Amino acid sequence: MGWLQGSNYRTLQYQRLRKHRRYCQSLIARTLSAMYGQVMLKTIRKPKSKQDFALVLGVESSCDETAASVLRRAQDGQVEVLSSIVASQDEIHTPYGGVVPELAARAHMQKIESVMVRAVEQAGINWTQLHAVAATSGPGLIGGVITGLMAAKGLSVSLDIPLIAVNHLEGHAVSPRLTDDCPFPYLLLLVSGGHTQLLGVKGVGDFTRLGSTRDDAAGETFDKTAKIMGLGFPGGPAVEKMAANGDPKAVKLPRPFMGKPHADFSFSGLKTATLRAYENLINAKLGQASERDKANLAASFQQAVCDILCDRTKTAMDMFKRTDKGPYRFVVAGGVAANARIRTALDKLCTDNNFTLFAPPLKYCGDNGAMIALAGAERLALGITSDLDVCARPRWPLDQDSADNNPASGFGKKGPKS
Ligand code: KG4
Ligand code: ZN
Repeated sequence: MGWLQGSNYRTLQYQRLRKHRRYCQSLIARTLSAMYGQVMLKTIRKPKSKQDFALVLGVESSCDETAASVLRRAQDGQVEVLSSIVASQDEIHTPYGGVVPELAARAHMQKIESVMVRAVEQAGINWTQLHAVAATSGPGLIGGVITGLMAAKGLSVSLDIPLIAVNHLEGHAVSPRLTDDCPFPYLLLLVSGGHTQLLGVKGVGDFTRLGSTRDDAAGETFDKTAKIMGLGFPGGPAVEKMAANGDPKAVKLPRPFMGKPHADFSFSGLKTATLRAYENLINAKLGQASERDKANLAASFQQAVCDILCDRTKTAMDMFKRTDKGPYRFVVAGGVAANARIRTALDKLCTDNNFTLFAPPLKYCGDNGAMIALAGAERLALGITSDLDVCARPRWPLDQDSADNNPASGFGKKGPKS
């Protein structure tokens, strides 16, 4: 092995690992399909041939929610969510103040089957009526992604229906289309726990990256702030609640990249400044910050995130207008889109810049199976399905070309965030 050094050796190892992973995945899929198949093939019949609608089961397991949903999509694009089951892992991760990947993977394994069964039952259908199964196959925590994807592969084989591997971010991107008539193209601000990016969305799977974070994601920054201040997990809702009684101007905090001509984000400086501000508070108050002090800091932090998101979005709106004739539509999606102050500020920004705002209802901001079912149904309608050897991907940019040229790609402990 001595001659095989450095990057050559790593490449070889990587290729072996990929081959091994592909083998394991198809093996698990065959085993699962055999298990499901033995039980189910006795009682089921194949779905009826041509229909003017599709019933799609969506499976989501990329982070800390095990979720499944059955969605009915008519040929004219009308959508009805028949069920949406979300099993949260908040209790498991709360003691650690963040998601523990190994614990998350185990919890997905334990819950995936019952969550899928409940989704089908609540939809009032039987398994044979499903036309396709869609599952998140990345990006995300790999243990969870593999669990959901394998379960979907098993169902695909045993029911003899197409499998659609869905990019989790595409699920968020189409989430307003679950409830609103929001046609393509639109400008998208995707703000979640792992991602913060601005994209032009021209159609199904057609994304152009306008900006993305160079370090942390907005949701991650909310979570870290909550952890610093001992507010609990998940951090976003906890910070929002604490901020409700605070003064957003009380603490001076930085707003990185404000006014810059590009549409990228940076949150690490804000995160550190919030930590320092909290330490100063503690020192000044001899070890104990008052509820009033905490509320003021939470409100000031939330306002800083809000200002950053609006400023960067304004730049992206100008970029979008250079290539799109309008009417202009703007979508905000992902867990952080549940924040009321951020929604209100973006609403005003849209009014001032001649954009119509589309934001999913709160239940579809965080991770859910319905958005995956919809992304799958839209692909199915275009005849786009996946092979059974499709792999789970920890990283999967929506706009691969831009990600390859993104100065942020490859940096940071979580790698590319574009
Ligand atoms: O989309 P999501 O459920 O999962 C990922 O794909 O990452 O987003 C989760 C993130 C967490 O960081 C959480 O703290 C944040 O969304 N979040 C919020 C709020 N609700 C959830 N951030 C700010 N305000 C909220 N109300
Ligand atoms: Zn998400």
